[in-house]
Amino acid sequence: MNKHYFPRIAMMVMTGVIAVSLNAERHTTTLNEGWQFTKGVHSADTQWQNVRIPHDWAIYGPFDRNNDLQVVAVEQNGETEKTEKTGRTGGLPFIGKGSYRTVIDVPDTTGRTFTLVFDGAMSNAHVKVNGKELAYWPYGYNSFYVDITDAVHPGKNDVEVDLENFERASRWYPGAGLYRNVHLVNTDKVHIPVWGTYVTTPKVTKDYASVRLEVKIAGLNDGQKAMVATEILSPAGDVVAKNSSEFVYHGQKDFQNFLVNRPELWSPKSPKLYTARTTVSVDGKVVDSYDTRFGIRSIEYVPEKGFFLNGELTKFRGVCNHHDLGPLGAAVNRSALRHQIELLKDMGVNAIRTSHNMPAPELVELCDEMGVMLMIEPFDDWSFRPKSPNGYGSYFNGWAERDITNMVEHYRNSPSVLMWSIGNEVPSQWGPGGVKELTMLQDLVHKLDPTRPVTCGMDQIRAVLDNGFAAALDIPGFNYKPQFYEEAYEKLPQKLILGSETASTVSSRGVYHFPIEFKEHNHVTHPDHQSSSYDNESCIWSNTPDIDFAMDDDKDYVIGQFVWTGFDYLGEPSPYDTDAWPNHSSVFGIIDLASLPKDRYYLYRSKWNEESPTLHILPHWNWKGREGKVTPIFVYTSYPKAELFINGKSQGVREKNDSTYQNRYRLMWNETVYEPGEVKVVAYDDKGNAVAEESIKTAGKPHHLVVTPNRESLKADGDDLVYFTVQVADKNDNIVPTDDRLVKFKVDGAGAFEATANGDPTCLLPFQNPEMKLFSGAATAIARSGKTPGTLRFRVTAKGVAPAEVEIPVR
Ligand code: GAL
Repeated sequence: MNKHYFPRIAMMVMTGVIAVSLNAERHTTTLNEGWQFTKGVHSADTQWQNVRIPHDWAIYGPFDRNNDLQVVAVEQNGETEKTEKTGRTGGLPFIGKGSYRTVIDVPDTTGRTFTLVFDGAMSNAHVKVNGKELAYWPYGYNSFYVDITDAVHPGKNDVEVDLENFERASRWYPGAGLYRNVHLVNTDKVHIPVWGTYVTTPKVTKDYASVRLEVKIAGLNDGQKAMVATEILSPAGDVVAKNSSEFVYHGQKDFQNFLVNRPELWSPKSPKLYTARTTVSVDGKVVDSYDTRFGIRSIEYVPEKGFFLNGELTKFRGVCNHHDLGPLGAAVNRSALRHQIELLKDMGVNAIRTSHNMPAPELVELCDEMGVMLMIEPFDDWSFRPKSPNGYGSYFNGWAERDITNMVEHYRNSPSVLMWSIGNEVPSQWGPGGVKELTMLQDLVHKLDPTRPVTCGMDQIRAVLDNGFAAALDIPGFNYKPQFYEEAYEKLPQKLILGSETASTVSSRGVYHFPIEFKEHNHVTHPDHQSSSYDNESCIWSNTPDIDFAMDDDKDYVIGQFVWTGFDYLGEPSPYDTDAWPNHSSVFGIIDLASLPKDRYYLYRSKWNEESPTLHILPHWNWKGREGKVTPIFVYTSYPKAELFINGKSQGVREKNDSTYQNRYRLMWNETVYEPGEVKVVAYDDKGNAVAEESIKTAGKPHHLVVTPNRESLKADGDDLVYFTVQVADKNDNIVPTDDRLVKFKVDGAGAFEATANGDPTCLLPFQNPEMKLFSGAATAIARSGKTPGTLRFRVTAKGVAPAEVEIPVR
């Protein structure tokens, strides 16, 4: 959320009962504790379970083929005959009804307004206060709010949220329940409503910026006056501009203008944030204070030339992500998202597409703070021939306008948001009325936010070039098919093309198949139900990364790309989706479900991270049984050339060249033969100087466990997470890349075990048991901080190897 409310006095939160104090002019509290949950339809006998929000009721499993078995033809993937589809939505039990309830204690309601804000509720939410239904919101991904003032009374008030997920409503794992935060906002009757401000920066130069703030004020009578005063705070918190004016209410919005000298501009490299602090007074009494966080930056999309951020040519080096957090499911957690962004930024990513739904507010806030550009996208279906028959298509006509309005009003103050997408591969792109639906959505976005362009991810390139759909968008976005970019550029009026979704290369971390062939547009499957980490396999509609790199490099009109996907996700296990149980999670990710980077990470890093060099060797070098067999070695590197050595013997120099797409971006030794020992690569710069080297060794007998945490300390807020990577090493500390033993975790002290995963798309072990099998020699365990400072102790044990232990201070 872009608005940052600042509490004036503390609010008491007790288990089960939330006490609201009334002395503050505005008070927001996030309702995490004191909830109860039950699955199914509840009755007087229902045993309610105590839960903490955010909560995903389905992530606890168990996995089962029958949870989401479907007999369908996936038209979108070019299928014409029905087959048994397994694991499409993660094989988890999210379908059905569930209810949550809590009690809020409100001492006095006179002159106050109470609003519940739901960041997202999956799905078909009915919100009841003291038994009275006050709101219904079907789309599980969108944020919505409900004014509950008339239904609350002094004392204890019951809040209940009933939810229902239908089958065949999604193409991926949606999660279930109150999986995002719920907030209670307590204000004076006269107040700035939820998402009630809009900041734009009409003029941005190095020397000055003009800032315009639009403010809605609720609760005033016609003709009533209010004083509105705003201070603009710099990133360091200094007041750099201010303004106040008397506002006479006649149903309109108020606005104020500011001049900020020498603005600190927002960009991925320097994500500087300002705050507009607005105070509303009536009859000399302050009735509301409201913070709007924003950034100052300029964006221009220039035909033929590209996208310019603050005047600087910038290509989107983006990834698409679904919203689930692997073993944590859909239950949002800020530090899990932060971990994802840290990994992506180190890879050189500067943008994320929230495919294909509204994000959690925490993601948008983190992108603002950490410097990642966002393309926010609401829908996977419009009204025509929805891909998921019980999904958003059934609501589109009645709800699209409300859903778009909430999305844009919620996020339009975020400097990270650089573009809106109105849909993904919607069948309307070729169906009747598609251009009308497009125009309705695009016009609505423009009305709510005239400062950013609109795109849409299109895959039916022939149809959309022909029927006016692609030409109607601000920015045409194409999913895959880079071979058609040139034709699209020639035909379309925009003279800019976005790779709204690219690659969909498939690979399983640390798994390699021989021999290697580059199989583009080919459904390659293997008996082990894994895809090869040589990054040579894709699906019939998709390709390996190299051609997309070439498009970015060679075409000025290509403004960049969003790779499918940054992280593996639950569901869509292509190419193992047809009667291929137990596969139930994707292999499209550059990073796996356990948040562990695959080799592909380093291919993108070698192109996209301009600050720190990349030199990465694949495959691993533990190939008992392959002695004497051809075992190709690839090196993903930012250096132009390198020499490879096996046990000291040179295998020759390779230099990037234009002979094939792969030779442009990878160094490949296709004829190397396996012998145990050491593989070393020496990288050369343009002038032929040896500038870096890297080596891997064949590991010996497994000897001890190794633990690597992603954090040095945690916050004692009960919500902070640490990710431990667990591996096995030989006695000389060489990691054993093939080990698959069961490891057991124990967390005590100032925190608790939260979840585990290993990135294996076929693994059915529950995420919540404190044990996991290693996959390709690694697994991840996640622990959560408690609320009391101290030391969190993590210990891992396994048969046949020495244990390992790590301590993390919790402050
Ligand atoms: C695209 C689609 C994505 C995902 C991807 C897999 O066509 O937009 O949601 O299904 O294919 O390659």
